[in-house]
Amino acid sequence: MTTRTPLMAGNWKMNLDWKQGLSLVEDLGDALKAFDMSKVQVAVFPPAVNIRTVQTAIEANRYPIAYGAQDISEHVEFGAYTGEIAGSMLTALGCTFALVGHSERRQYHGEDEKVTNAKVKAALEVGLSPILCVGEPLEVRKAGEQVAHTLAQVDGGLEGLSADDVKNVVIAYEPVWAIGTGEVATPDDAQEVCAAIRARLAELYDESVAETVRVLYGGSVKSANVAELMEKPDVDGALVGGASLKADEFSKIAGYQ
Ligand code: G3P
Repeated sequence: MTTRTPLMAGNWKMNLDWKQGLSLVEDLGDALKAFDMSKVQVAVFPPAVNIRTVQTAIEANRYPIAYGAQDISEHVEFGAYTGEIAGSMLTALGCTFALVGHSERRQYHGEDEKVTNAKVKAALEVGLSPILCVGEPLEVRKAGEQVAHTLAQVDGGLEGLSADDVKNVVIAYEPVWAIGTGEVATPDDAQEVCAAIRARLAELYDESVAETVRVLYGGSVKSANVAELMEKPDVDGALVGGASLKADEFSKIAGYQ
């Protein structure tokens, strides 16, 4: 349980073409009409080419859904960076968030702490809230080093940020071994690392930063396990992959209470 507004974020990854994405956001928006949206924030992260479609549907129907990008360029100024998307292009599309340093970016695109730190800064510079993704692979978990590993990623991702900047960051703890595997961390596993992240924020900044920043859990979250995860005091929401691709399942996750 948390006093911070829970955030349920659906990372569509490289799934759904624009028509499928449109249909999902319409179904989700309709399902959320019955919700008290003062109790939860819901956000979707479509592939970049579909953000405009999602924006149009959300604005036309006044759906209570925020949205963001799955990645952002570390370069703030427009220029010769083929394939990159600048943060200001995302804010021009009404995005609120950008994922940074997802484990799939780290694994397949070699993103390290230097890159994630630059991307976090690029997002903040244009007024986006970066969702900094951190978490350990299986061998690190087996060695019992999950906290140290994850905190090193937090330190690296936040380097050089002021307390005011960090209040606009969301941190998502996603143990790599739990992503897309069906193997969810236990609520105690999630709480252990999310609490350590919050304690680190207090150490690096102060209590008010630690109490403000939302720390999410991600990794095989579904409607059947979200409530017990959300009971933990330092889990402020979920970053959901597979289960966010179906409107009925994702809306059940959003309505976990
Ligand atoms: O970013 C969300 C994520 O990596 C978790 O994916 O499919 O295990 O919910 P999934």
